[in-house]
Amino acid sequence: MARIENHPILGKFRKGRKVRFYLDGNAMEGFEGEPIAAALKAAGVIVHRYTQKRHEPRGIFCAIGRCTDCVMVVDGVPNVRTCMTPLAEGMNVQTQYGVLAKKAEGWTGR
Ligand code: FES
Repeated sequence: MARIENHPILGKFRKGRKVRFYLDGNAMEGFEGEPIAAALKAAGVIVHRYTQKRHEPRGIFCAIGRCTDCVMVVDGVPNVRTCMTPLAEGMNVQTQYGVLAKKAEGWTGR
């Protein structure tokens, strides 16, 4: 598991409760409140999106909300920075292809 449990300087991390979420329709588990990207990384997922022109894979790069390499479609909303967005029970996370300017189908305004 690729998850830091006890950091030599920051100490032991407190976790939220274990929750189920979905990546491209597949059930996964993570901890409530951790960044979506952290839950994906812990599960071995490194590709979050593909670039529009060259279809190259992108994943966590800065991990501080600056680069947009980690954006995905979350609950139908495109361009969500998963390194900055807390995980919640039942989230529907999808790999993003290109830059999606419009809200994805099924977007409910969340
Ligand atoms: S990894 Fe750079 S914005 Fe998320």
